[in-house]
Amino acid sequence: MADRYAVIGNPVAHSKSPRIHAEFARATGQALSYEAIEAPLGGFAGAVAAFRASGGKGLNVTLPFKEEAYALCTGVSERARLARAVNTLMLKEGVFGDNTDGIGLVRDLAGNLQVDPGGKRVLLMGAGGAAQGVVAALLAAGAIELVIANRDMRRAQALAGRFPGLKASGYGALARGFDIVVNATSAGLQGAAPPLPAGVLGPGVLAYEMVYGRDTPFLAAARAAGARACDGLGMLVEQAAESFFLWRGVRPATAPVLERLRHG
Ligand code: ATR
Repeated sequence: MADRYAVIGNPVAHSKSPRIHAEFARATGQALSYEAIEAPLGGFAGAVAAFRASGGKGLNVTLPFKEEAYALCTGVSERARLARAVNTLMLKEGVFGDNTDGIGLVRDLAGNLQVDPGGKRVLLMGAGGAAQGVVAALLAAGAIELVIANRDMRRAQALAGRFPGLKASGYGALARGFDIVVNATSAGLQGAAPPLPAGVLGPGVLAYEMVYGRDTPFLAAARAAGARACDGLGMLVEQAAESFFLWRGVRPATAPVLERLRHG
């Protein structure tokens, strides 16, 4: 029987991960199955145990379980430890956790979008799980400035305090001068945008929305200001490719999969 993998979240029905991993498996000739599992809130550990007992080899973890997954692991990678969150589980003797979100964002920026964060000034909006997952990778990629902006300043300061070189800011104090502006808030899911002062987005700025599959007010504001606006679909495909590599030892090509997801 083919090795079993799955994405686990709540909700998870609309996840694109099964399609992405099926395409990776086909392209690399790997025999595996990949499904979507909706775990009840409060039932994450039980769902992981059941999947493992049925022979499951690995899981991608999505909202809202990434912190719970981190707590469940018997061992974690350095990047998961820095993020305090896990999006990839390897089910072996123990449960090993990794986090491929940060490298996924950096590879999308540097590879697909040709805007390497190295040497760039980066503004990261949000201080929740999505932001936490990518800070270390942006710093490791060589961003010369990384500012965290959040409505709740205490959360921004708490996150900034965990990484040398990271600065916290309220939205009102932000000014122009950033090369890359990443929206890691959940505002787009509510049809809202973070309260960025006018002038932060403009020509020459890459505005990156981690949400994908919808045109958010942040993307619309970026386009209206003359910035280059991109959604998070490339990050989704890149983080998936890194998970696939961790599980199978084979690195799938991402560009054809991203192209197909964008056009049909
Ligand atoms: P996630 O794990 O998706 O990051 P989270 O931990 O609930 O979810 O964090 C959501 C983030 O989006 C927070 O940074 C939140 O800002 P506050 O901490 O100030 O609440 C941010 N956020 C949500 N809605 C927002 C909005 N309308 N404008 C700006 N920021 C918003």
